[in-house]
Amino acid sequence: MGLRPSTSGRHNISQLSQSSSRISTVFGALLAVGIATTGYGLYQFYSTFTLWPKEIRSDLRAGMKAKHYEDFDLSERYIRRAWETAQTLPIAVYGSDPHLKLTGILITLAEVMELNGKPHEAYELMGNYLGNLPPLDDEVTYNEWSGAERMRLAAMAHKLGLMAESYSRPQKEEEKWLTWAVERTLKDIRRVNETSDRPAPGPGASQPLHELELPDWVARSDLLVLLESLGEYHARTNKTSLAITLNNQVLTILQADFGDRTKLKSLCRAAQVLSNQSELYSRPSLPKEGKVSSDVLLQGAESSALSALKIIAFVQENPDPNQDTSACEATFGVAMANLATINTIKGNMDMAQKLYETALKHAVKIGNKEQIGHIRGLLVEVERVRDKGEKQ
Ligand SMILES: *[C@@H]1O[C@H](CO)[C@@H](O)[C@H](O)[C@H]1NC(C)=O
Ligand SMILES: *[C@@H]1O[C@H](CO)[C@@H](O)[C@H](O)[C@H]1NC(C)=O
Ligand SMILES: *[C@@H]1O[C@H](CO)[C@@H](O)[C@H](O)[C@H]1NC(C)=O
Repeated sequence: MGLRPSTSGRHNISQLSQSSSRISTVFGALLAVGIATTGYGLYQFYSTFTLWPKEIRSDLRAGMKAKHYEDFDLSERYIRRAWETAQTLPIAVYGSDPHLKLTGILITLAEVMELNGKPHEAYELMGNYLGNLPPLDDEVTYNEWSGAERMRLAAMAHKLGLMAESYSRPQKEEEKWLTWAVERTLKDIRRVNETSDRPAPGPGASQPLHELELPDWVARSDLLVLLESLGEYHARTNKTSLAITLNNQVLTILQADFGDRTKLKSLCRAAQVLSNQSELYSRPSLPKEGKVSSDVLLQGAESSALSALKIIAFVQENPDPNQDTSACEATFGVAMANLATINTIKGNMDMAQKLYETALKHAVKIGNKEQIGHIRGLLVEVERVRDKGEKQ
């Protein structure tokens, strides 16, 4: 299982989303992130219109045209009418993957509403839809909803989580939807895993086990986005041990690429996660939260920072202009500074100073002003502590 397959449909979508890129919305940003929730819907609108039931075809067409010309009022009216009609039609008229098509209309409506300055209404619309779904774990529903359709629901929940943050809704809502997306996906992966009668990989198959366990309809990159968003939320809201757990899951998935010269971008992502882990492990609030001794946590912080640097070194030793490794450049200084800070905690002030200086030199080299300012401040602090120590 590789990264998400790129279909010609997606190409169309990115072009479409660019057409309204002057207006920054969560939907727009998400298309870039990787979960192309609107994928099926939009592509079908433009390629094979006949795929849609004739009762809604003309409303959809008119709505998409108005959207293209950024007449969002008009677009909303047409697509809303299509959505209302769509729900009254028997499910059989949609053919294969009916829920993918229905949610495609719903998402398009929500997107247009957001563009039309009604983000909260768009949020409520999608939230109500997910809130009123049939029990997805029941046998009957389970057999009715395909894997791709379930993944679509997770993507919608993820989107709701991001919207909750962007539009300053109560933090609980953000947590609810980001968690919903992760739990839904993991549940489905486990279920497939349990009932799987997949043949064992033949000789020469080198794919690691945890990758084989992902069903076809869960793109690895989508699962990563879901886990990372929830981890980032927990990190931001001081649920540090939960953030660490999620980051570890992300790393388990990325581990498949370690040592692979053709996966440098993915390695840099792993280095970023590891650098984040080292920051999380050294948070002062964690010992109480995780009930683990400070020494063990400091060790976790140190080994994470070292692993991040090791990965970055591998990337630097295998340069490839065709792969985007900018994340490694930015992470090097952070991981190095983290390692320095860990050394100040351990009382190794000389080592700390050297590491800060290395981090600073790199930050200057890549011209990262934020890092330069931050590391300079830390360096001054170390020198101050050291001078004080020497005078005593
Ligand atoms: C799938 O099954 C294997 C073996 O039973 C287990 O080790 C693994 O953790 C399972 N994966 C998931 C995602 O539940
Ligand atoms: C998290 O903790 C930091 C430091 O203790 C505090 O400044 C911040 O306000 C906290 N954030 C939240 C969302 O609780
Ligand atoms: C690392 O942490 C920062 C700050 O919480 C976050 O914005 C970023 O997405 C994280 N990166 C990864 C790859 O987890």
